[in-house]
Amino acid sequence: MNQSNLQSDFFRFQAKTTQSASGFEVDYAKGSYIYGKNGKPYLDFAAGVSANTLGHSHPRVISAIKKQVDKHLHVMVYGEYTQEKPVQLCKKLAEVLPEPLNTTYLVNSGTEAIEASMKLAKRYTGREEIIACKNAYHGNTQGSLSLAGREEKKRAFRPLLPMIQFIEFNSEEDLNKITNKTAGVVVETIQGASGFRLPQNNYLKKLKQRCEATGALLILDEIQPGFGRTGKLFAFEHYDVVPDILVMGKGMASGMPIGAFTASAEIMDCLSYNPSLGHITTFGGNPVVAAAALATLEELCESDLMNQIEEKEKLFRELLVHPKIKTVHGRGLMLAPELESEKYALEVAAKCMEKGLILFWLMYSIQNLRITPPITISKEEIRKGCEILLEVLEK
Ligand SMILES: Cc1ncc(COP(=O)(O)O)c(C=O)c1O
Repeated sequence: MNQSNLQSDFFRFQAKTTQSASGFEVDYAKGSYIYGKNGKPYLDFAAGVSANTLGHSHPRVISAIKKQVDKHLHVMVYGEYTQEKPVQLCKKLAEVLPEPLNTTYLVNSGTEAIEASMKLAKRYTGREEIIACKNAYHGNTQGSLSLAGREEKKRAFRPLLPMIQFIEFNSEEDLNKITNKTAGVVVETIQGASGFRLPQNNYLKKLKQRCEATGALLILDEIQPGFGRTGKLFAFEHYDVVPDILVMGKGMASGMPIGAFTASAEIMDCLSYNPSLGHITTFGGNPVVAAAALATLEELCESDLMNQIEEKEKLFRELLVHPKIKTVHGRGLMLAPELESEKYALEVAAKCMEKGLILFWLMYSIQNLRITPPITISKEEIRKGCEILLEVLEK
């Protein structure tokens, strides 16, 4: 099958998410580059939307996957059998996370981890209300979508979950909306879709205090900033706060599909009785995926990669100075240069692609370019990519 046939089959047989997918034909990927079927290398500043933490085909991840594939694939639904890699992954997470985050449930995606966390908060507290933030994004299944802070993304799919209230991210005043009726408050540590917005003025600490005062569980969504992207394993570590439930996904397995949520054993146990099978999944904790996640976590903990993030951010910020860049939002290797308009940002991203640089956008704020490269990216690659972007802005 030649290239153009493959592309037309992509548009014809594979369901679409937009009317404007690029259909870029991928051949293979290695390190910070994706190689097109056209034979050209593309420097990847998107990393599969924050998923390829250690870049493409990291040798440690590939080797862990191959070793596990030779032993066994799926053998049983989640939670029944003792399998080496999922157990080692959950144990390692307990070792690196602060107390009381010591028990992890492995699932298949970020949105599933959010769904299960909402269920866990309801089950543990016996309450019905969930609070989320305006402008939030937590996934696309109906429970997670109910938490989305943008009505235009939800309207067509109503009815969604009842008993969901919204507060403004960073608003201290709104914390009063959290009451003894609230089961859980779901918040992104750094808001992603709305423009890599950081918590300000000890917001997360005050949020946690309010949750403690009312008996609501604090559920932090670290699906995007987690796994080293901001220079710590999880972004909450910058803000002197520990959630009751930590939700992760995306970059956790460097490119394999995964989600997870971690809580204390006391909280997590609630999913196993009254009713039993409180959350179940066939493929959650898949041993091949768990092997990739364990390799990613071990590499992050044993290498100097997280220590380099601050310097890499600094380099990006030094380079990304141009009259057409209004500001650069974000933290670590989760950066978003803001341009004058959505239309212009899309044009810039398309031009950069022509010149061999992959950029993407942020879902609710398309005027912001997404820069979330593999955290293994070299300074030379950062310089090269920024040069392409500046060249495009100049024209
Ligand atoms: C903050 C956040 N939460 C949840 C999700 C959903 O994760 P998934 O696409 O794996 O379901 C995403 C995905 O973009 C995300 O960025």
